[in-house]
Formats: sequence, C-alpha cells, structure tokens
Amino acid sequence: MSAATRLPERAYNIATLRRMAARRLPRMVFDFVDGGAEDERTLQRNEQDFAALEFLPQPLNGTATRDQSIELFGTRLKLPVLIGPTGLAGLLWPRGEIEAARAAARAGTIYTMSHGSTVSIEDLANQVVGPKWFQVFLYKDRGLTQSFTERARAAGYQALVLTIDNQILGQRERDLANGFTIPPRFGLRTSANLLRRAGWLMAMSRAPRVTMANYVTDQRRDLLALAKHMPELLDPTLNWRDVDWLRSIWAGPLLLKGVLHPEEAALAVEHGIDGVIVSNHGGRQLESAISAIRALPAVAAAVAGRIPVLIDGGIRRGGDVVKALALGATACLIGRPHLWGLAVAGEAGVAHALEIFRADIDRVLALGGWDGLAAIDRQAVLLPGHWTGLHPHERQREAGSLRMFAKTDARLGSA
Ligand SMILES: Cc1cc2nc3c(=O)[nH]c(=O)nc-3n(C[C@H](O)[C@H](O)[C@H](O)COP(=O)(O)O)c2cc1C
Repeated sequence: MSAATRLPERAYNIATLRRMAARRLPRMVFDFVDGGAEDERTLQRNEQDFAALEFLPQPLNGTATRDQSIELFGTRLKLPVLIGPTGLAGLLWPRGEIEAARAAARAGTIYTMSHGSTVSIEDLANQVVGPKWFQVFLYKDRGLTQSFTERARAAGYQALVLTIDNQILGQRERDLANGFTIPPRFGLRTSANLLRRAGWLMAMSRAPRVTMANYVTDQRRDLLALAKHMPELLDPTLNWRDVDWLRSIWAGPLLLKGVLHPEEAALAVEHGIDGVIVSNHGGRQLESAISAIRALPAVAAAVAGRIPVLIDGGIRRGGDVVKALALGATACLIGRPHLWGLAVAGEAGVAHALEIFRADIDRVLALGGWDGLAAIDRQAVLLPGHWTGLHPHERQREAGSLRMFAKTDARLGSA
C-alpha cells in the first residue's frame, strides 16, 4: 500500500480532495482537469447556482434509516450518483479508468467510460465486474462510431451515451497559458513545478504509456498523433438524423449528454431516446451556457417523467444531489470530484469521493426530515427569486424558443 492510499482519511469533503489533488499533480495536469472554457463563467455558475438553492426542511419526520437507492434502466444503484465520462483519466493515476470503475462497482454505482480513455473498452470490461456505460461521439466516419458501439455491446456495456456538446472543442485558456499538450511536455518553466510532484512522477514512470487506447490502430499508436487527429474526426454537422441513425444501431438504453434546452429534451423523447443528461460539459465547452442546475427544471418539465433526466456539472456535495433530485433529476453524474479522488489515491480515492456523497446525502435526508429519496419533491427546495425573475418569459413573453420556460414557471409556481 502506498502512502497515498491513506490520504483520503483527511479529506472530509470534495473541496479538500481537490486541494490534495492540486498538491500532487503537476500544475498543467491539474489545470487540464480543473479548468473550463474562456472566462470560466459557466464553470463557476455550475457551482454557484447550486449554492443559491435553499432547502425547506420538515424535521419532525425522523427515521432510523434512509433509502438512497434508485433504479435506472433495470439496474439498482446504491446511491443516485454515477461516474461521468472523463477522457485521459490515466494521466492522473496509472490505468486510472480501471481504478475508478472498480471504485464505482464497489460503491454500487455505474461507471461511464469516456471515448478518450487510456485503457480500451475491452480491457476495462475484462478487469471490472459492475455496471458500465460507454460514451461515444459522432464522427465524420460513421463507421468509427458504429465500431465503438459494436465493441461496447460485445464487451457488455449496458448503455450508450452520445455526447452532443463537443463536436468542436471549447477554448480552455488555462491549457493555452500552461502550454498544455497531450501528452504533457514539460519545458524549463514547468519542470521546476514538476520536480515538486515526486509522487505523481514516480507513479507515472511505472505506468504503461498513456494513449487513447480505443483509437489505437497499427498506424496510430502515439497519443500526440491521436490527440491532434481528434478535431478532424468529429463531425460538426451533428443533427437529429444522426441521432436516429445511432438509435437504429443501438438497441439498449441510449442517452444524450449535453442537453440544456427544454425543446431539445422534448425532441429526444420523440426520437426514442431513453434518457437525457442535462450538462454543459462541466463548463468546458460553450462559455456562458446556462448552468446545469438552472437548466434542469425546464428540461424536467418538458420530459414530464417519460424518460429519466440526469444532470452533471458543479455537483460537489450530497446536498447538491438532493437539490437536483428535488428539481426533477433521477440521478447525478460527477466528473471532476472523482478525478480529484483518483489523483490523490487511485481506486481508494474514488471510493472515498463516492463515500463522501453517500454520507452527505444520508445526512441531508436525515436533517431535512426526508425518509428517503422518494420523499424528495419540488417542495424540498426554494428557488432564488432572481431565477424566476430572470426567466425570459418575463421580458420576452412572445419569444417562441423561450416559451417552455414560462410553462415551467407556471408549473413550478413562484418560490
Ligand atoms: C478532465 C475531463 C475530461 C472530460 N472528458 C469528457 C469526455 O471524454 N466525454 C464527455 O462526454 N465528457 C467529458 N467531460 C465532461 C464530464 O463528463 C462532465 O460533463 C463534467 O465533468 C461534469 O462537471 P463536473 O466536473 O463539475 O462534475 C470531461 C470532464 C473533465 C473534467
């Protein structure tokens, strides 16, 4: 057992894990995970908007235990928190995706493998027993998307997640400032920082060469070549016909990740999609996109319980999860929180991050007088007044694309 595996004991919340990750990772690797697009407004608002919601508890309702299990596409999960897809987790810890997936399985939840993982679809499936989803993109070469779906099916991944908000890369300015490349290259300026990261350096020097394992072919092995290749592979013309095509070749649960507009959510149901993930990619893509939690109520109203609505972005505490469920989510995904745990202590760190969420959720339920997730409804939280005040229908009642917000407000009532 390495010294690092004992570290989570001191991490009593996700913010502490983040600080520990900042001390262990080279600055440019930490910033690659931590950063967002342009001025990082969406990144910040993802968190701030959770903070703006308030609970309305009814504590005279005590129970000895509180059930936080949920069922998603026939799988029972022990907590309503899944691990979302994050590329290149193997930069943080050797074979990081396998470590994280093991932690998810142990905690009784789902691991979503990113297209851009450093281990392959098959490798992870062979190493980890437990429910797994796979995330794909739409490529100019539809054959590549199809081959990923076929590999995922053959390897036993239960659901497919199509990410729709990443066909063009957002501008991540911390990466530009740090001269971050894939794989990271350390020059004179960054080497001094690197030398103070001995734990990471030693672990990574023993690790297999980091690459985007799913894309490796005989011609393309090198990560730099693969990473450069990525923008050319993705198809910026992505539209509903492509969604229909993917629907026609994947029989299992299919989710769209990156849905923020209620009309797009309603269309997803019409196009036979099984679940939507309300997400702005953790503030890494379209700068100034609406925060995920703020987009959720209108999306949930548009979907009207017909398919599960999941959400990610800015979820840092179990209380955030309970707030999201109160506003209509079925479950939440976490990106950075699990990566910070992974950076600090591999599998143990991810397990610790998930345990923080489990314990938080239980405490919030107990303090609020809710005997389980089933007791959480719209009455459990208050929306800040300025949320409704800023909803566009107040000023632009006639604007067609925004009508849905007005409907949501009417349904939710003013809080
Ligand atoms: C380092 C990193 C890599 C990511 N890679 C992917 C990816 O390959 N595919 C994808 O759909 N989303 C990717 N995401 C976005 C996450 O799935 C998720 O939407 C986001 O991290 C949620 O916000 P949070 O980090 O605040 O929890 C990535 C996020 C991070 C931080």
